[in-house]
Amino acid sequence: MKYKKFLVTGGLGFIGGNFLKLLTSKYTKSKFLNIDKHTYAASKDLAFNLKKNKNYFFKKIDICDFKKLKKEFYNFNPDIVIHFAAESHVDNSIKKPDDFVITNIIGTYNLLKLLNRKIKIIHISTDEVFGEANKKSFTESTNYNPRSPYSATKASSDHLVRAWSNTYGINYNIVNCSNNFGPFQNNEKFIPVIINSLLKKKKIPLYGNGRNIREWIYVEDFVNAIDFLIKKNFQNETFLIGSGYAIENINLIHRIIKIMKNKTKIKIEKNQIKYVVDRAGHDKVYKINSNKIRKLGWKHKTNLNNGLSKTIDHYINKSKKVL
Ligand SMILES: NC(=O)c1ccc[n+]([C@@H]2O[C@H](COP(=O)([O-])OP(=O)(O)OC[C@H]3O[C@@H](n4cnc5c(N)ncnc54)[C@H](O)[C@@H]3O)[C@@H](O)[C@H]2O)c1
Repeated sequence: MKYKKFLVTGGLGFIGGNFLKLLTSKYTKSKFLNIDKHTYAASKDLAFNLKKNKNYFFKKIDICDFKKLKKEFYNFNPDIVIHFAAESHVDNSIKKPDDFVITNIIGTYNLLKLLNRKIKIIHISTDEVFGEANKKSFTESTNYNPRSPYSATKASSDHLVRAWSNTYGINYNIVNCSNNFGPFQNNEKFIPVIINSLLKKKKIPLYGNGRNIREWIYVEDFVNAIDFLIKKNFQNETFLIGSGYAIENINLIHRIIKIMKNKTKIKIEKNQIKYVVDRAGHDKVYKINSNKIRKLGWKHKTNLNNGLSKTIDHYINKSKKVL
């Protein structure tokens, strides 16, 4: 591995933690400093898992606290920054946008101020910056059209990264990814909500008519895509990453129910789904065209059913530990 010092932000979160789990064991000669504010979204299980690795270091820091961030940044002296830290839940951004504007925009700005031409940044972003997909899937050249406070702050951070490259010559990759799922995702997100509702014999809340379409990628595949891009070392490029598995929310629930019926003795009620008032400004469809990275040799390995099965196993095991 060319890079010896990785500074990772938000590495106690779902994707950042899965990324660190993979890379700390794969690149044992590199050091990894995880800077995370340890918000409600940080995973205690991931923190416990990661601290076993000798090349892993952790500092509890808010990326919006520039003074502290700067001190740790210069002490560690990274050659690459992988920026996951963000407020990430759309519903929270509708109720309380402040934290999103502060962390996602100011936090990214603070990191950019510390970079120079020799330090690369991989900025982790979302397909939601493109708004709603019509008949066509999003590509790297789709215009930005963010429609929620969350996606607007992520779009702002993408713009900052590109502006810093154009103006100050920093070297970046931006990855706009579809919805991730897998082990260690926070219970507030859609797939853990479905699984946990079933495990707790509760109704599954579903927005609107349930016909919204989302594309789902298994987190290990996304993390492998980031690893792929680190190794390929492209300069100032954007990549859209998805699996191609786009499915209506209602059908995703039925799929999970089917898999869970084979794994557990859960009884499914006729009115297991509780339709709730739709999310404000809810985008109907997100769909990604990942041909750019696929042509370069990356491919996802986990199909939707296998990924769901592994994810369900994770939450079943977790529920047993809680009992
Ligand atoms: N989860 C998805 O489906 C998805 C899809 C596309 C893109 N993304 C992007 O990927 C990144 C990671 O998403 P995730 O799902 O792992 O998020 P997450 O909410 O699970 O984790 C975010 C992490 O960032 C930390 N954090 C939050 N504010 C911070 C701050 N001010 N300073 C330092 N650390 C802070 C939290 O403590 C947490 O550990 C985000 O940038 C998100 O926008 C996520």
